[in-house]
Amino acid sequence: NDVRSIYEAIGGEETIDQLVEAFYARVAKHPDLIPIFPDDFTEVARKQKQFLTQFFGGPPLYIQEHGHPMMRKRHLRFPITPVRRDAWLKCMEGALSEVQIQEPFRSAMFERLTLTANHMMNTPDEEK
Ligand code: HEM
Repeated sequence: NDVRSIYEAIGGEETIDQLVEAFYARVAKHPDLIPIFPDDFTEVARKQKQFLTQFFGGPPLYIQEHGHPMMRKRHLRFPITPVRRDAWLKCMEGALSEVQIQEPFRSAMFERLTLTANHMMNTPDEEK
C-alpha cells in the first residue's frame, strides 16, 4: 500500500527544483507570457518551488513564509486570459516531460495544475 505523497514519489526537493527551473526557462521564452512576468525569475521561481512542494504533499513551505496561498487573489493584478492559461499549461507540460516525471504522477500533477490554472483566469481573451 503506497501512501507516499506525489512529492516524495517523484523525488522530493531535487525534482521540484528541476521542474520549476525547466518551467520558467519555457515561460521566459513564451511570447504570450513574457509581457506579464518580470525579467528576473529568481523570486517567482523560489516561491513556486515552495508552493508546488506543499501543493503535491510535501512540507508546507509556502504557507510558512507567505501565509494562506490565496492564489487567485495573488494573480488578480495580472491579466490571465484563456490564451495565457493555455501557454502556462504548455510550459508546464514541457517541463514535466523534460524532467521525466513518470506516470501515473505526471498525469496526476498535470490534472491538478490544470484545475488550478482554470481557477486563475480573470480576463477574457482580446477580440481580434
Ligand atoms: C506568480 C502568472 C497560473 C502559482 C505569478 C506571477 C505571474 C503569474 C505573472 C507573478 C510574477 C511576479 O511576481 O511578478 C500566471 C499565469 C498563469 C498562472 C499566466 C496561468 C493560468 C498559476 C498556477 C499556479 C501558480 C496554476 C499554481 C499551481 C504561482 C505562484 C506565484 C505565482 C506560487 C508566486 C506568488 C507569490 O508572489 O507569492 N503567476 N500564473 N500560477 N504563480 Fe502564477
